[in-house]
Amino acid sequence: MSDFKNFSRMFRLDGKVALVTGSSRGLGLHAATAFLLAGAKTVIISARKAEGEQGINQAVDRLNKLPGITGKAIGIAANVADTEDIERLVKEIQKHEEKLDILVANAGATWGGPFDPTPDWSSKKVLDLNVRGVFNLARLFAPMLEKAGTRTDPSRIIIVSSTAGVTVPHVGDHGTIMYSVSKAAAHHLTRQLAIELGPRNITSNTVGPGFFPSKLANGLIEILGGEQELKDANPRKRLGEPEDIAGVMVFLCSPAGNYINGEDIHVDGGMRFAAGRQTKL
Ligand SMILES: NC(=O)c1ccc[n+]([C@@H]2O[C@H](COP(=O)([O-])OP(=O)(O)OC[C@H]3O[C@@H](n4cnc5c(N)ncnc54)[C@H](OP(=O)(O)O)[C@@H]3O)[C@@H](O)[C@H]2O)c1
Repeated sequence: MSDFKNFSRMFRLDGKVALVTGSSRGLGLHAATAFLLAGAKTVIISARKAEGEQGINQAVDRLNKLPGITGKAIGIAANVADTEDIERLVKEIQKHEEKLDILVANAGATWGGPFDPTPDWSSKKVLDLNVRGVFNLARLFAPMLEKAGTRTDPSRIIIVSSTAGVTVPHVGDHGTIMYSVSKAAAHHLTRQLAIELGPRNITSNTVGPGFFPSKLANGLIEILGGEQELKDANPRKRLGEPEDIAGVMVFLCSPAGNYINGEDIHVDGGMRFAAGRQTKL
């Protein structure tokens, strides 16, 4: 028989403090929900907008009504493409918490259009948020993460990338070249952070989703022929669902993911290996 330490807590996050950027909706909200259900003490919901149907406040209200949770969600607005705003976010969080166990750099931007002309602002927008912003989040939150991590229970950085970071998914009229490039950079940033921050008891990994219906993805899903067509093309015959993000996030951030560092985990039903069928643009 093997002697496992605390197997019953293997997929739990009891007592943990997590920040999820871009968590007012979409994949970030799935991750935040899962963290609270897995026992997290505090989950910080962040995005640019506080008010309105898709703002932070409605997400925080709904999260705090989740049955059976012992922790709480709190909301702090910030633009994580802006370095000064990230510095402010660190200070705001320090008013509530001394340490941070989990940083999910999820907020991302995309732009699609023909190769020529590509407006320069679109590349800047995508790279500022998806690459420079993610690097600055890791850099500026590293001291708080280091305070939380130990050799036996490191703190965690999860960068939400995309299968677009390892494929060439869309060219032509609806090309997403710089998005794809930004996500490839995110994968390599993870590897760099894994080596840089591993000795400081912080692990870094990437989650690369395939298509999940969301505000960001829905336009492209329609351009590609709609949900049914993408489901039919996928080896698992479906698109991503909230539980798929919940599972991978809890796995990577719980004791089960303790020794995983510098990895990319794609959550796409295997679709990226059949990418040629998706390239109809
Ligand atoms: N959905 C998919 O199929 C899919 C596939 C592959 C990868 N991804 C990746 O998954 C991540 C989340 O995408 P999603 O589909 O969940 O998108 P979404 O539903 O559009 O949500 C994006 C979230 O990010 C926030 N946000 C946007 N820009 C921000 C900024 N500058 N600073 C702070 N927050 C910002 C948004 O709120 P505000 O607008 O209020 O700021 C919102 O909370 C992205 O990195 C995306 O590239 C998604």
